[in-house]
Amino acid sequence: MKKIISVVGARPNFMKVAPLHKAFQKYNGTVKHLICHTGQHYDEKMSKVFFDELELPKPDFYLGVGSGSHAEQTAKVMIEFEKVLLQEKPDLVIVVGDVNSTIACSLVAAKLNIRTAHVEAGLRSFDRRMPEEINRLLTDSISDFLFVTEQSGLDNLKHEGVADEKVFLTGNVMIDSLVSYMPKAQKSCILDDYKLTKDNFILVTLHRPSNVDDKDDLRKLIHLLNTLAERRKLMFPIHPRTRNNMISFGLQDTLSSNVILTDPIGYIDFLALTMNAELIVTDSGGIQEESTFLGVQCITVRNNTERPVTVTVGTNQLIGTDLAKVEETALRVLDGHKKQGSIPHLWDGHAAERIAQILLQKL
Ligand code: UD1
Repeated sequence: MKKIISVVGARPNFMKVAPLHKAFQKYNGTVKHLICHTGQHYDEKMSKVFFDELELPKPDFYLGVGSGSHAEQTAKVMIEFEKVLLQEKPDLVIVVGDVNSTIACSLVAAKLNIRTAHVEAGLRSFDRRMPEEINRLLTDSISDFLFVTEQSGLDNLKHEGVADEKVFLTGNVMIDSLVSYMPKAQKSCILDDYKLTKDNFILVTLHRPSNVDDKDDLRKLIHLLNTLAERRKLMFPIHPRTRNNMISFGLQDTLSSNVILTDPIGYIDFLALTMNAELIVTDSGGIQEESTFLGVQCITVRNNTERPVTVTVGTNQLIGTDLAKVEETALRVLDGHKKQGSIPHLWDGHAAERIAQILLQKL
């Protein structure tokens, strides 16, 4: 019996590990798949609701690390995760995505000579001021198995000298979750709850430190949202980082009453919003991919993306942080100038099954 521990830490990890957990259930008797939650995200609405909705079991290990500076958070995860690995001695650790828990746990495993798989490997923004870029580079450089979502990931890893036999193009596990929960999302009441109609509202998410940690930048972003909200209903589920900054900068009263400001929204309801939006304005990584899969218009308020296939193949437009350009592009989309897109190779709902199959052959 092989023992595998998958790590989740922050909100975007849960929908990536859920399909892997399901895929390993099919090998019951051969594999024991355990889940370790580092506690990087801990609020009910940033964590527990995802476990419930994605039908994930209660984590086998909860490290409870919470928030802190990058060094504090990463170090706390490492100290606690090392205890888990020393006790459990798994055959493999799986880490997903690019959050602090991803690098912290892969580093601990590598030092204990435990093999590590990185799911969503090879993505590069080429912007080392992004904490996620550092996490991606370091995690890939010490992982034994690298599972890639798009061709750019293969190219980047080859360029960095990673041996071909470690790298597998398997598709996108986050899209596996999306495919399996779309029927539930179709039954969500969230549109009615907020009096929204299909293809007639804008969905906004903003949480990147580069957009929301500076008072002046955040003030300008709020101004942009107020302008867009004059044209369409605008739904803005706010990330705790953004909310905390709005309050500490004294900007909480500057949002127009046309903007529907809500707490973070659970997986199924958020998927319902994504599926039905006319336009999404975001700085998230995952939402660029979800909107591409769904063929929904997406404007990314960043100067780079580690997910270029969403631009070359999908409906994503990488506009940058010049908000006049963002406004102009958004208004063009609302006037009917839509970007056509298609679904990237292997984003078909079966990535986790491919990963499980490869890992079981290799272990
Ligand atoms: C983290 C990830 C980022 C990911 C994002 C998704 C890193 C470096 N960043 O950023 O890649 O896109 O998650 O959400 O790992 N907070 C709460 N409740 C929570 C969690 C956080 O209130 O449950 C607040 C705290 O004030 C905390 C702040 O949000 O200080 C930021 O949280 P943190 O986990 O440090 O980074 P994120 O911005 O969430």
